[in-house]
Amino acid sequence: CATILAACMFGSASAADLTIGFSQIGSESGWRAAETTLTKQQAEKRGIDLKFADAQQKQENQIKALRSFIAQGVDAILIAPVVATGWDEVLTEAKDAEIPVILLDRTVDSKDDLYLTAVTSDLVHEGNVAGKWLVDTTAGKPCNVVELQGTTGSSPAIDRKKGFEEALKGHDNLKIVRSQTGDFTRTKGKEVMESFLKAEDGGKNICALYAHNDDMAVGAIQAIKEAGLKPGKDILVVSIDAVPDIFQAMAAGEANATVELTPNMAGPALDALDAFLKDGTKPAKWIQTESKLYTQADDPQKIYEEKKGLGY
Ligand code: AHR
Repeated sequence: CATILAACMFGSASAADLTIGFSQIGSESGWRAAETTLTKQQAEKRGIDLKFADAQQKQENQIKALRSFIAQGVDAILIAPVVATGWDEVLTEAKDAEIPVILLDRTVDSKDDLYLTAVTSDLVHEGNVAGKWLVDTTAGKPCNVVELQGTTGSSPAIDRKKGFEEALKGHDNLKIVRSQTGDFTRTKGKEVMESFLKAEDGGKNICALYAHNDDMAVGAIQAIKEAGLKPGKDILVVSIDAVPDIFQAMAAGEANATVELTPNMAGPALDALDAFLKDGTKPAKWIQTESKLYTQADDPQKIYEEKKGLGY
């Protein structure tokens, strides 16, 4: 395959010839690490030469990586965009160079003609599922909720907040009393939860925690235990991702529910790219992945064992 898209199109491309740049956000969570592992595995399986760039959580590093991929004339670019805004210029540069870009797991505010497709979950729906679980579980009982948000300005932080708030609408027993970013990390999740607990009478005024990802929930669970309370009982814990560690916490009764986000975004992304390069088949602008709810009733220990081997 030549290094420009046009030469790869309409039957001349095979995955084994492709060079693809992957701009990853960083390694803030267990989920993110699994996505990196699975993307590398998917590329290897298909004989793709994957150029990997870790942006260490910085948008400027992602923009630099994209410009370097464009300069190298890669055949396509995968990017998990750390925040939602500020991509127009570099995506236009990729478009001008006829390099298709596929978004993984997060969305951007740019016009959709600047990328080939986005492989993501319905991020608003995820928050909604978590919120509905809490509505059902509290069944009208008064409940003060604290929220650990993901990275400020990222699409999952914006949308998971929105979806959760939508689910709580009309359920006046549920009140979000504190909400702050924990940047999707375990360390920050613990730190911010400690401050929530202090501010809310050592945690006595908190009935539930909603964390935008499992890693922050796991950090917060530690903080709750150190404050002398029982996570999962004194404070309900609901989060998103479904990584193995949260199932371990669920098996121990310390977490209550999680919404699954598959870390295998690269599989559907590379399938779509393959078809596009083969005969110009345009994929849907949004390839949606599933968002399944798991609770303690789902045999968390078994799921933990099953998940461990899957890239985590
Ligand atoms: O964009 C997906 C989110 O980013 C995951 O929920 C989180 O764990 C990750 O860091």
